[in-house]
Amino acid sequence: MQFLDLNKQYRSIKKEIDTAIKRVLDNNIFIGGQEVENFEKEMAKFCGSKYAIGVNSGTDALYLSLKSFDIGYGDEVITTPFTFVATAEVIANCGAKPVFVDINPKTFNIDIAKIEEKITKKTKAIIPVHLFGQMADMDGIMRIAKKYKLYVIEDAAQAIGAETKPKAKSQKPKVFKAGSIGDYGCFSFFPSKNLGAYGDGGMIITDNKKLADKIKSLRNHGSSPKEKYKNLVLGTNSRLDAIQAAILKVKLRYLNKWNEERRKKADYYSENLNELKNITTPFIERNKTHIFHQYTIRIKNGKRDKFKDFLDKEGIPTMVYYPLPLHIQPAFKYLGYKKGDFPETEKAAKEVLSLPIYAEIGKKNHNLVIKKIKGF
Ligand SMILES: Cc1ncc(COP(=O)(O)O)c(C=O)c1O
Repeated sequence: MQFLDLNKQYRSIKKEIDTAIKRVLDNNIFIGGQEVENFEKEMAKFCGSKYAIGVNSGTDALYLSLKSFDIGYGDEVITTPFTFVATAEVIANCGAKPVFVDINPKTFNIDIAKIEEKITKKTKAIIPVHLFGQMADMDGIMRIAKKYKLYVIEDAAQAIGAETKPKAKSQKPKVFKAGSIGDYGCFSFFPSKNLGAYGDGGMIITDNKKLADKIKSLRNHGSSPKEKYKNLVLGTNSRLDAIQAAILKVKLRYLNKWNEERRKKADYYSENLNELKNITTPFIERNKTHIFHQYTIRIKNGKRDKFKDFLDKEGIPTMVYYPLPLHIQPAFKYLGYKKGDFPETEKAAKEVLSLPIYAEIGKKNHNLVIKKIKGF
């Protein structure tokens, strides 16, 4: 059994994918062009935002978002220490200081009750991460951002298609897609993501035309949209390849169906695992639609590693996302954090275990995972 079998997905849509790739090869335009623009339009529509700009990766999506606000030396950006390293790495790479806030133990997302105490005069932005495919409390985050005039960049790398219905009475009871609430929403098309490319890729969405134009320029060396080889600001090379755009446009048509399949598989896991007293199954908030990029349980009796080893030996692949929180990573040692600073994050890092989940996982394998877990 594989943790994720991408070949099964490819086989199910092979004809369409192969046709799309061939079209790009025949057209001979490999960077930018109509393929990228078409996919950007589809992405904007899917996410309910006005603009979508394709970039090289999820990491670059976050990095360019910060750059567009001129965030750099002397600035602070608030985020969670329980995420993939890129979220905080980009803050540091802009020259700013990542400031961590502990997580809500139920959702694994940033604890909004702990954000305000970390805000200083230097704070410029918040990067909430919609971890594992369920959105952070955007209602609360937007309220805080408004109060302190902070930018909000949603790290939606793991949450494409996830939804939230705002709780606040003042807001229309509209359903918002991940990435469409903050100033920017950032996505990753890393192959294992719910919408995965066959290589690297990323996207930034926004409703703000000025910001969209800025990102378009930044992804292409800060170039002028009007004059070739005129560079207005310092940017970089972070464009989405036409081949990836063509592939992703095909896949986007299936995304709702695949996400729905993941939800069904997640329900089935939970129905079967809820009875086990040392396991906590994922908590789904009432106003949210989870897309289960990961189906992550907690092992409560301190035996997570033994449990994982047992499953490995029984042929059940599992993953720990993430074993070492960012505040105690060697790369962030200079920030001066220490063990014990974020107890909920540290506890989660010791307890979490992600089980195989994807649309095409068969009943046989799905049941085998459950059987082996119960065996332990
Ligand atoms: C939460 C999160 N942020 C950022 C990234 C970075 O995306 P990429 O690998 O496309 O650079 C990822 C995925 O890898 C991620 O899971």
